[in-house]
Amino acid sequence: MWIYLNDAFVQRDKAVISVFDHGFLYGDGVYETLRAYSGRIFMLSQHLARLQRSGNLIGLDIPIPEKDWPALLNEAIRRNGLTDAYLRITVSRGEGAIGLDPSLCRRPTVVIMAMPFQPYPSNLFREGVKLTIAHVRRNLATALSPQIKSLNFLNNILAKQEALQAGAFDALMLNSEGQLTECSTSNLFFVRTGRLCTPSVACGILDGITREVVLLLAREQGIPADEGVYEAEALRQAEECFLTNTSMEIMPACQINNLPVGAGRPGSLTTRLQDHFRSNLARFLG
Ligand code: PDD
Repeated sequence: MWIYLNDAFVQRDKAVISVFDHGFLYGDGVYETLRAYSGRIFMLSQHLARLQRSGNLIGLDIPIPEKDWPALLNEAIRRNGLTDAYLRITVSRGEGAIGLDPSLCRRPTVVIMAMPFQPYPSNLFREGVKLTIAHVRRNLATALSPQIKSLNFLNNILAKQEALQAGAFDALMLNSEGQLTECSTSNLFFVRTGRLCTPSVACGILDGITREVVLLLAREQGIPADEGVYEAEALRQAEECFLTNTSMEIMPACQINNLPVGAGRPGSLTTRLQDHFRSNLARFLG
């Protein structure tokens, strides 16, 4: 497996970084997860823009200019003999002496990993996944903005652990006001009285790229869609619920805290959006 590290492609056993890397020491860095379909990357420029934004928000210069990323990512796919791929870009503050001051690090560490895409088991799409509502709250946007896709992922890991302990696929997080936000690595949608609802960015979420595509497709389909502020209670009246992210696209959720959502199986609006997503996919590939 070829991995891009700093300025060259190296074999996996040579792709090692220093124990003094501030990404390792402090979670000081940013990342993006991308997906390639038959060698073409989904919403590439949006992922690159978000990487840049995350870097800006932590004062980290992404050392590779935006125009150079497509060639590097395509090379990572090609060298590894892949077509359907999962890609991860990681940019950390780099190696430096112990201490929080970013200027201790001379240059950022850049890693690109490209792996065969592992689809989620098809029964999850057919039956829908189970969710739990986490006790841990989503990071306060004014403390550590969820809009920074950072290496500091403990908030989400704590939520995921709760989900696993409860035998659920994932955990939904509330913000400090008790309003719905998102799951550990995905955005939340639900359907109420025929309207598609998703927590707004102001609730403290990562503004997912798949979420954006789903909102666009819904509007094109004439499905009324709202970005709003919702209490957890809103899910009790939900007819349908699904999650979105780059790797799962649209994943139905059929149960929340052991209670069925709607009829307890993927609903018709979810299925319609899944079909529409698939038939329009080519529009969103780079
Ligand atoms: N996760 N919310 C969070 C907290 C996320 O980490 C992600 C992405 C999303 C969905 O974003 P997008 O649609 O742009 O993938 C929402 C990726 C998949 C990850 O962490 O690997």
